[in-house]
Amino acid sequence: MTYQISGRTKVCGLIADPIEHAMSPVMHNAAFKKLGLDYVYVPFKVKPEDLKEAISGLRALNVRGFNITIPHKMAALPFLDKIDPIARKIGAVNTVVNDAGILTGYNTDASGFLQSLLEEGIEPGGKHIVILGAGGSAKAIAFILAERGARLVILNRHPERAEELAHRISPDVKAGALTGENLAEVLKNADIIINTTSVGMVPDINATPVPAHLISSKLLVVDIVYNPIETRLLKEAKAAGARTIDGVAMLVWQGAQGFEKWTGVKAPVTVMREEVLKGLRHEK
Ligand SMILES: NC(=O)c1ccc[n+]([C@@H]2O[C@H](COP(=O)([O-])OP(=O)(O)OC[C@H]3O[C@@H](n4cnc5c(N)ncnc54)[C@H](OP(=O)(O)O)[C@@H]3O)[C@@H](O)[C@H]2O)c1
Repeated sequence: MTYQISGRTKVCGLIADPIEHAMSPVMHNAAFKKLGLDYVYVPFKVKPEDLKEAISGLRALNVRGFNITIPHKMAALPFLDKIDPIARKIGAVNTVVNDAGILTGYNTDASGFLQSLLEEGIEPGGKHIVILGAGGSAKAIAFILAERGARLVILNRHPERAEELAHRISPDVKAGALTGENLAEVLKNADIIINTTSVGMVPDINATPVPAHLISSKLLVVDIVYNPIETRLLKEAKAAGARTIDGVAMLVWQGAQGFEKWTGVKAPVTVMREEVLKGLRHEK
């Protein structure tokens, strides 16, 4: 099919700042094209002080939906009409659907992360899971895993942030400082470890949040950092014989779930993953 924008084309988009390295435009436009859907996905660079006007503008322009990322995920909540319950608990929204002027916010970082485990046949309910980090993505991941019945320990460089997050979720969630000693202790009993810190991300690709000798072959190691695709943590986990999941999986599934909310059509996940991988290689 020839892909052409017309008066019937539905518009989706992304609001962020910075936006130049975003993967969502290539991922979604490739998916629309693959399925022959008359949609287009456009990046919008929006400064924090313009967020309210930008969201009213998107409503007025009748866009079908949009993603929200750094630095607007929390700040956007008051400007939406409805918030999905889990997004409300997390306190952040990354996907918005516009139904006849009613803007509903979701957190598909959370549900997309869960899907990245489920697609590998991993049910997190009942598992002992160690989350490294207590920032925005840790929050989304911790809430959805707790809701699924996982047993959580959160370790963070600034332990007070881990404690605050644990406290917000449930008294059953443990928290502490991200130290070698604590890692050694909690990993004795862990099934899954998830890195949600930015440690290991470009340009510091030789950094890792977990000393290699602490990784056993029985662990599932998940790193949500996707640039590089294979972080030092994942390389060392593979070398130790552990199973791994990279950050591209979460990125693709959060996008796929937004795509399905906007179009009502099953997302072409393989194409979306290929486009993200191409985009990330191009970034190098
Ligand atoms: N795959 C995906 O779809 C996806 C989605 C979202 C984010 N991500 C990636 O996830 C990472 C975190 O994103 P975010 O939005 O959660 O960031 P954030 O809110 O800024 O949180 C950053 C986290 O990293 C920790 N951290 C930073 N530098 C550290 C260091 N040198 N040593 C130990 N801990 C350190 C921070 O600890 P303190 O609290 O102690 O400062 C905090 O817990 C980024 O690499 C991002 O690209 C991936």
